[in-house]
Amino acid sequence: MGFAQQDLSSRLDQAFKGRFDLSDATDYLRWRASKLSSYPTRSSELIVEIGDLARPTEVECAQIIMRCRTANMAIYSSRPGTTDEHKLRQDLAAFAGALGLGQMEGHRSAATDGFVSLEVAKDSNRRGYIPYSNRPLTWHTDGYYNAPENRIRAFLLHCVRDADEGGENALLDPEITYIRLRDENPAFIEALMHPDAMTIPENRETSGKLRPASRGPVFSIDPTSNTLHMRYSARSRNIIWRDDRDTSLACAFLADLVAGNEPLVLKHKLIPGQGLICNNVLHCRSGFDDGSLPGPTGKRLLLRARYLDRVAGTTL
Ligand SMILES: [Fe+2]
Repeated sequence: MGFAQQDLSSRLDQAFKGRFDLSDATDYLRWRASKLSSYPTRSSELIVEIGDLARPTEVECAQIIMRCRTANMAIYSSRPGTTDEHKLRQDLAAFAGALGLGQMEGHRSAATDGFVSLEVAKDSNRRGYIPYSNRPLTWHTDGYYNAPENRIRAFLLHCVRDADEGGENALLDPEITYIRLRDENPAFIEALMHPDAMTIPENRETSGKLRPASRGPVFSIDPTSNTLHMRYSARSRNIIWRDDRDTSLACAFLADLVAGNEPLVLKHKLIPGQGLICNNVLHCRSGFDDGSLPGPTGKRLLLRARYLDRVAGTTL
């Protein structure tokens, strides 16, 4: 790297850290004003039409990236093609790759191509886990229990078949969450950036594999991308919060925010052919009615892939 490049890189680095510097609000206020003024207010503003998932055009990719730069998420809309699921998965991998997403997380329920089928499942491996049921899923970021080296920076959620009733997602950019908390009380941010803020105890999975305890902050600056990372779950069971007044108050504020006090929560029910591509935004899912189909799985099918990368063009 030449001197000029090095200088530019360190200036960008400094500029970014400045937004999240609690001791100096100048950069934060500038970034906050720009973020809030351009943020979408309806999920329809996130939608980008894609002609061919296997070969997205430069213009289509640029439209996705632009939305991800503004809101850390975009919804793509493609022609539903459910007849050949193997081809669809290949197309989705190509689509994600065109947007910089290539390093998939290894997941116990993933197929060899890395995709996880989110559906009502009756097999012993998945039964008992809420994502594979028709019950509501509370607010979370994906992989909040992962170790830092397996941090989930992005995910893709593609709808193959939707539920007859329900199964809607609500979505919230962690950067908006950060802004609301900091505006309320900067001490909330300090508390949630504490390395012991949130602990998920170790868990013995049905396979017998032990998942170690995961302890870490809610908000952190991801050292590989210089961006804000959030790990969070609104579930009350199996989360141990740091025993501290500001942490408790921050958690209560955050819970109220996602429970309905945040006007910039975007709600969207994915329809067949549509998908969410995002830098691991906060999300939840309403319960749904899948009909009473015979067989090992329900009707609703979403394919999910999680990545260690962020969407291209969204890092400094
Ligand atoms: Fe999720």
